[in-house]
Amino acid sequence: MIGGILDFYFFSGPTDAEVIAQYGSVIGYPMWQPAWGFGFHLCRWGYHNLSDDKENVAQMRAAGVPLEVQWNDIDLYHAYRDFTTDPVSFPGDELRAFIQELAANHQHYIPIVDAGIAVTVNSTDVYDPFTRGVEEDVWIKNPDGSLYLGQVWPGYTVFADWFSENILSVWTEGLKNWTDMGVEFSGIWLDMNEPSSFCSYSCGSGANYSALAPLSMAGTVITAYPECYNYTIWGPSGNITINGTSTYSCAADSTAETGIESRSVGVGGAQSVDPGSPPYAIHNGFGVLSAHSVATNATHYGGYTELDVHNMFGLLEEKTTNLAIQSILPGKRPFLISRSTFPSAGKWTGHWLGDNYSKWQYMYLSIQGVLQFQIYQIPMVGADTCGFIGNTDEELCNRWMQLSAFTPFYRNHNHYGAIPQEPYRWTSVANASRIAIAARYALLPYWYTLFANASMAGVPPVRALFYEFPDEPELFTVDRQWLIGSDILVTPVLTPGATTVDGIFPGRGSVIWRDWYTHAVVNATTGGSTTLDAPISHINVHVRDNSALLLHQEPGYTIYETREGPYALLVSLNAAGTAFGTAYVDDGISFPPGPSRSLTFQAAEGVLKIESDGGYEMQQKLETITVLGVQKPTQVTLETGTVEEWTYEETIEELVVSNACVDLNGQVTLTWK
Ligand code: GLC
Repeated sequence: MIGGILDFYFFSGPTDAEVIAQYGSVIGYPMWQPAWGFGFHLCRWGYHNLSDDKENVAQMRAAGVPLEVQWNDIDLYHAYRDFTTDPVSFPGDELRAFIQELAANHQHYIPIVDAGIAVTVNSTDVYDPFTRGVEEDVWIKNPDGSLYLGQVWPGYTVFADWFSENILSVWTEGLKNWTDMGVEFSGIWLDMNEPSSFCSYSCGSGANYSALAPLSMAGTVITAYPECYNYTIWGPSGNITINGTSTYSCAADSTAETGIESRSVGVGGAQSVDPGSPPYAIHNGFGVLSAHSVATNATHYGGYTELDVHNMFGLLEEKTTNLAIQSILPGKRPFLISRSTFPSAGKWTGHWLGDNYSKWQYMYLSIQGVLQFQIYQIPMVGADTCGFIGNTDEELCNRWMQLSAFTPFYRNHNHYGAIPQEPYRWTSVANASRIAIAARYALLPYWYTLFANASMAGVPPVRALFYEFPDEPELFTVDRQWLIGSDILVTPVLTPGATTVDGIFPGRGSVIWRDWYTHAVVNATTGGSTTLDAPISHINVHVRDNSALLLHQEPGYTIYETREGPYALLVSLNAAGTAFGTAYVDDGISFPPGPSRSLTFQAAEGVLKIESDGGYEMQQKLETITVLGVQKPTQVTLETGTVEEWTYEETIEELVVSNACVDLNGQVTLTWK
């Protein structure tokens, strides 16, 4: 935004999370996510054909690494054209059968949709999505009324004018025909929607349409590796050890210079200006505003000039696509991930952090990205895990697969020509992924509750440490750790060659933090940093006291299987012996959301009370109740009677009630004394 009349809103909080929520009440709360969206997503540019997809799905299964969603990039397309499939490499009927088999296994499929729509190159060329759009007059224009031409992967393209009256029906038709051709998607990936174009300004109204061939990536060779991996010495595998020797060759400091310049932004009122060269320029890396995008003098339906509405392209595409999906998959929550966003985009889409590099530095920066998008009310966000541009290596991918498992959108995505980086490619990465995904899927009811609170009240699911502990200034600059909700603290390894990691435990000694895996209490330094063991394949995760987390007891291969299993409850008492938590449960898919159930867990003085309210019937029972911070009891009683099956572990003050078989549709009390 570079001008106009600005209305200012001031949000009074007083807490940081409340400021974010109040902003959400103005721009709109985030969309409801389907439960399966929290599964693990796998993508790359360079799954050349359906066999690559199938191989991938089989290898993931064989390695026991949960795969929820298989994605396809532009390799899927015929001549890189949206809403098509390549007849040789992705034949429609075989693709349909593949996607239906995924669905039968409770897995999903997401294809890419690029913003640039190819133009037909001659009179015999048939491409309905373009010609239907011409008939319905839905493409952005030049000031003289001719079609505005850009250039993207397929060659010359037009771009949708989201202000035009007929775009929703044309866009829906394109997506619907695509599903009828076999692309039975569960969600959509929107890319290149700034929009991105390879011509600076218009490619020209008189362009020779047939002169430009689709882009070819053949022969792309990638030799870049993460900071500490020396390709010349170790070769292309990216393995942590080669011939028994570690490949760590430096200790990269990921707090060092990012190499990203800070950019100033111009502001002001833009009246009577030449939109081709506005006086208030933004230094957008590539030069003028029109560079690598749609020229600022392009025109839209209703007389809008691109200069005034440029940043709304992505937002309006997301809204249109979301509405189209609602009519193609009625009654189900749409799932979208998009590159370009704008205030209120979270109502329609999630976001991935765009083209990052396979570098330790970028893994570290992804934490800031995830935190920023909580402020923007687009909480379903995550980075290209293991890194996109350049080759990754085993160690970086190991750490990154674990880190991203604790961010909302969890997708591994890779560049064309880079070495493969699916989690099964290295034994250690498969192992690290299984561990982290098991924790993620166990935590699904917690994630789901946080996202329900985002959709209902704008509360950010992922939080900087100081949001929860505003009186501890030492937390203000922490950007190497984060909180999931208020109760889960994540402390990832961000440097190569590390076997320990330093982290701060908020609360200045007043909070008991317990290890997620062992339940042991952390011996934390008050207000300073604590060094934690962090061998490869281990990510530090800690549970705050005074919390009660509803969990899935048996993380399954898919989100569906996980949700079919029983629940567990993890209660972490504080020094005063109290705990509190809530859970929001529903069927995870209905749109608009159907009946739900709200659970409240409250513990004090040796009594845990579970209250349950709402119209949604929970089929799965609460099997295991774990209470941490308990003095050894002699008797444990569940409302229904004395409990026989309980164990106590003195060293971690842990009481475990198993086979509890608690019906969560009513009130329950557990007592220990
Ligand atoms: C863009 C996207 C990237 C995608 C590539 C090819 O660079 O950001 O994720 O793989 O285009 O479609």
